Amino acid sequence: MPALDRVTLSTSRLLLRPLCTTDAPFVLALFSDAGFMKFGTTPPFVSIDQADALVQRDILAMAAGERIRLGIERTTDKTLIGICTLFDLNAQSRKAEIGYGLLSHAVKQGYMHEALRALLEYGFLQLGLKRVQAEIDPDNTDSARSLQRLGFVKEGQLRENSSVNGMVADSALYGLLRREWMQRGTPVLGG
Ligand SMILES: CC(C)(COP(=O)(O)OP(=O)(O)OC[C@H]1O[C@@H](n2cnc3c(N)ncnc32)[C@H](O)[C@@H]1OP(=O)(O)O)[C@@H](O)C(=O)NCCC(=O)NCCS
Repeated sequence: MPALDRVTLSTSRLLLRPLCTTDAPFVLALFSDAGFMKFGTTPPFVSIDQADALVQRDILAMAAGERIRLGIERTTDKTLIGICTLFDLNAQSRKAEIGYGLLSHAVKQGYMHEALRALLEYGFLQLGLKRVQAEIDPDNTDSARSLQRLGFVKEGQLRENSSVNGMVADSALYGLLRREWMQRGTPVLGG
């Protein structure tokens, strides 16, 4: 995959942009937010050093074209409210996994739907992906609804695939194909 560290995407209410070192306080707030971490596969962050390290790892990985993680900035107040990610990018089979989350105060306003439409459009049209998949906790109904609204189809349940809050957990597997995305129409990215 090409270098992905310069990618920015604009939607009607949001700017999706790479995280930078000054965003570490936001990253700490997000990764210690009880709502964001409810189905988390890692323990909550407790120090700014962990947030710094995540940003540094992202900068390198995105420059190497290994993944893309964008901060979701609300344009009205230029505040970061969440993140969205394409990871496990596989250039040969043209597929990737998607991840996402919002600060608790920013849910239920359609922000993630808007952000993920832009990220998926970028993935399918610019990166040439054929398939995007998501593995979520089967009890994460908000996440399942977000995926289904975007056209993802539940493809199965992966047994003992994950660890949530230290407990072994199944994952629900969702998939969306490029041709299904194209059939849904309306582009979201301007310019
Ligand atoms: C999963 C998560 C991102 C979903 O957030 P969300 O705000 O519900 O996501 P969406 O953008 O799809 O929101 C659509 C909701 O906003 C409502 N909404 C309100 N105003 C809206 C608007 N102007 N436009 C669109 N939808 C709007 C919709 O009705 C819908 O509500 P519903 O799900 O009750 O039907 C959020 O719950 C979260 O961050 N969870 C923690 C992290 C996580 O679990 N991530 C997934 C695992 S990778």
